[in-house]
Amino acid sequence: MTFDICTSWSSKVESHERLLLDGCFDLFHLGHANALRQAKQLGGYLVAATHSDHEIRRCKEGEPIYSQSERVKILRAVKWVDQIIQNAPYSLTVADLKKFRVDYSVHGDDISIGADGLDCHSETKTAGMYKIIRRTRGISTTTILGALIRLVTQRETREVNGNYNHSQQNSNCDENTSLGEVHKIPQQKLSKSAFAKEENCGKVAANVWCRSTFFDSSSPNHFNLNKESKNNSITDDEKAKSHGDYLVVGLFSDQTISGLVGPNYPLISLEHRALCLSALSMVDELVINAPANNHDQMQVIMDHYKVTHIAMNSMNHIGPITPSDVELGFHIKYPLEESSIEAIEIPTEINFDTILTRIKINSVKLGETFEMKNSKTLLFELPGEFNLI
Ligand code: CTP
Repeated sequence: MTFDICTSWSSKVESHERLLLDGCFDLFHLGHANALRQAKQLGGYLVAATHSDHEIRRCKEGEPIYSQSERVKILRAVKWVDQIIQNAPYSLTVADLKKFRVDYSVHGDDISIGADGLDCHSETKTAGMYKIIRRTRGISTTTILGALIRLVTQRETREVNGNYNHSQQNSNCDENTSLGEVHKIPQQKLSKSAFAKEENCGKVAANVWCRSTFFDSSSPNHFNLNKESKNNSITDDEKAKSHGDYLVVGLFSDQTISGLVGPNYPLISLEHRALCLSALSMVDELVINAPANNHDQMQVIMDHYKVTHIAMNSMNHIGPITPSDVELGFHIKYPLEESSIEAIEIPTEINFDTILTRIKINSVKLGETFEMKNSKTLLFELPGEFNLI
């Protein structure tokens, strides 16, 4: 039997079909965003279904890093998602699809195997209620988990040796090589870049990712994300919470992050970070290659966007940066002393350290899960170029 595969980038399929894309969506990444984008392109209404923490433990023999409620929060922010179903069974039956009032189940071109060792979608495939989208090569929850586990191991080794602190991480670039390499998520070959594709499309459909140019200090280039209507109210809620009505996100280059935090960072490349952010409905614009600690360049951006508030987290601060800030892990400071721009402290439930702590607590079990999943993944995850079809 052959299945429909979505191969069109720009043509929006006008359809009122209801589609359901199910998954764990743990450590939300570009593969998930791209799967949701493609699924939305296949039909008119997209339901994202997440499996419960218990179901993931049962069927994937692994502990999710994000709880189901955290995974749902992220999915609610994705601009292609119209509805979310929680506690979806790992193996979806035709009766489940009818219960959820959807016409088709959608999945990437990998096969999900349930706890019983069988294809989770076999029943919907046989019933002709299954559509395939192209899996994004080279990225998965497992890949990211592997990189995070190696990072935790490396930090633990340093702690045991009594020589870990932020400044050391910053300054001593060579120490990592002797402690075992932390593998970054590979930079993808963007031979057919998403951006270039969009440029070629002229008037594009609503499902494109974004438009992009890079920041250079003389002209604050930016791109305006194509906003798409969605039924749930998360966008407005988020905006109300953030004290503003327009959200510009500045993204540091990989090189800038390596310089600020350490040679093994970032784990996720600029392309991946940009495309993931552009999938979120509350993000209005992205500034790629945003400056860090260059106050003149920052000021240009603030003026250009008429910024009124800056969202701060534990990584950034106001005022000139000092060596003790670096020691404490404050890496970025904004030039706000004499301006009317207000800083807002954003309470973050999850940050990078929370994730590493969760991994540390479960490190043995997660290590086993990673090895098991990684060996399975290799069977179908052939290296290939980054494909945004
Ligand atoms: N998906 C995709 N491309 C990826 C990863 C996932 O298209 N690189 C799709 C899957 O095919 C599935 C959905 O996203 O339809 C949800 O995937 P999920 O169950 O979260 O799988 P992974 O991210 O692959 O997680 P794991 O590594 O744990 O299998």
